[in-house]
Amino acid sequence: MSETTDYELRELVRDRYAAAAAAVAAGATNSDVLTAESCCASSTYSATDTTAHNAVVEINDAFGASLYSADEQSELPAKALAASLGCGNPIAVADLHPGERVLDLGSGGGIDVLLSARRVGPAGFAYGVDMTDEMLALAEANKAKAGATNVEFRKGAIEDIPLPDASVDVVISNCVINLSVDKPTVLGEMFRVLVPGGRIGISDVVAEDHLTPRDRAERGSYSGCIAGALSHQEYLDGLAAAGFTDASIAFTHQVTEGMHAAVVRATKPAARA
Ligand SMILES: C[S@@+](CC[C@H](N)C(=O)[O-])C[C@H]1O[C@@H](n2cnc3c(N)ncnc32)[C@H](O)[C@@H]1O
Repeated sequence: MSETTDYELRELVRDRYAAAAAAVAAGATNSDVLTAESCCASSTYSATDTTAHNAVVEINDAFGASLYSADEQSELPAKALAASLGCGNPIAVADLHPGERVLDLGSGGGIDVLLSARRVGPAGFAYGVDMTDEMLALAEANKAKAGATNVEFRKGAIEDIPLPDASVDVVISNCVINLSVDKPTVLGEMFRVLVPGGRIGISDVVAEDHLTPRDRAERGSYSGCIAGALSHQEYLDGLAAAGFTDASIAFTHQVTEGMHAAVVRATKPAARA
């Protein structure tokens, strides 16, 4: 049997997230999309209810809207919450300040871009990059509903970021780098677009070091954010190879046996005087 090519894998990912975006646009809740195998999915699932903007949002322990505080949820349009497919809360990780320029890789329905835009204020700016037209359309609708003016969504691949060198202070991302078929290029692109002294604050799925690629594939699909995850050491090595320093990876919660949502931090060294 022939192996799936990188091109086919990327198209599988695009199809999966296009379907998730279409479902949200048609009125699906966050738990609908998290359980419909149309996004990142863990093997354990439990649901309770909460409200935001008068919409019922159901909670998945490992992925989605429940990873945001009630205050953060109350700042967002219901469809931005419904489209929340991440495995963490990079806003909490990145420690954003007024005036900063932020880039979200794989911005989906826009949840982290819209929250970032509020944190950096009118003197700052938040960009989102995503390759899936349906997600970009949803993000634009959520931007309009939120009335955000310091936000821009760009179509593009995170392996070829459509921004100039040294143009942002912070790169965030939420459960997307595991989906890339060329992670060294993504890490290199993050380094390129950051200013010297800039930082990354990323949520991603990360495997324990003893799990082989085959072990990871047995635990979940590639487009479901499991099979393509780097191990802890692979991530650290990749960040160092791209030029990052002060890298750290902290597991936050298990998504399936031996695989965890994690917080990834690192810095681009400041320019020498
Ligand atoms: C798991 S969802 C996460 C979306 C968003 N970060 C969130 O937390 O809700 C993955 C998103 O990344 C996008 N994506 C996946 N691979 C990509 C790539 N190589 N380049 C650009 N976007 C990509 C998908 O279109 C999708 O919107």
